[in-house]
Amino acid sequence: MSTWANLGLQDSASPLMEQLIFFHDHALLILVMITVLVGYLMFMLFFNKYVNRFLLHGQLIEMIWTILPAIILLFIAFPSLRLLYLLDEINEPSVTLKSIGHQWYWSYEYSDFNNIEFDSYMIPTNELTTDGFRLLDVDNRIVLPMNSQIRILVTAADVIHSWTIPALGVKVDGTPGRLNQTNFFINRPGLFYGQCSEICGANHSFMPIVIESVPVNYFIKWISNNLNS
Ligand code: CUA
Repeated sequence: MSTWANLGLQDSASPLMEQLIFFHDHALLILVMITVLVGYLMFMLFFNKYVNRFLLHGQLIEMIWTILPAIILLFIAFPSLRLLYLLDEINEPSVTLKSIGHQWYWSYEYSDFNNIEFDSYMIPTNELTTDGFRLLDVDNRIVLPMNSQIRILVTAADVIHSWTIPALGVKVDGTPGRLNQTNFFINRPGLFYGQCSEICGANHSFMPIVIESVPVNYFIKWISNNLNS
């Protein structure tokens, strides 16, 4: 999760988020180079005396400063498309989680396991324990196995919500009447926090998401405990 004064991206917990961070840095580097070049040219204009009376046209420089930006844009466009298709790929998921957005909480269904289902509400500030995170912790966490391909299906029951986990590089809209899907792979254990990121009403800020990433045998234990109850 993001902590105090962390203004950049969160540390990645999935291969896709890692790729997103690489792409961000790549695009930012190109942006800085363009800004420096254009800034230098604009600065140098102040020292130009404009005394070339015979300058009427410059075919070559016009060609260069038309084609060069187009080529530079390709260096952003191709990695961007690569990532886009990588994010969309579903790689034989071993677990499917269905999350349904409501005003204003999430509910989850593990359709693979006799349809375990539960609601997940934010813990109100006055009920928070000392180790809890305000506006971020929930009463029922999603438990998922690490090192496994996980498919998530997102939908909503009332208005549009968005199931967003920054550390995993996941952001999918839950739209009433539609079933969106995406896929991720958590490569370490831990708690991963997210929030709804589609303005969905008065309590939009108060429907966080918490994923508890555990080793596969712990996940199986958790599933079998919930099947018995
Ligand atoms: Cu649900 Cu914003």
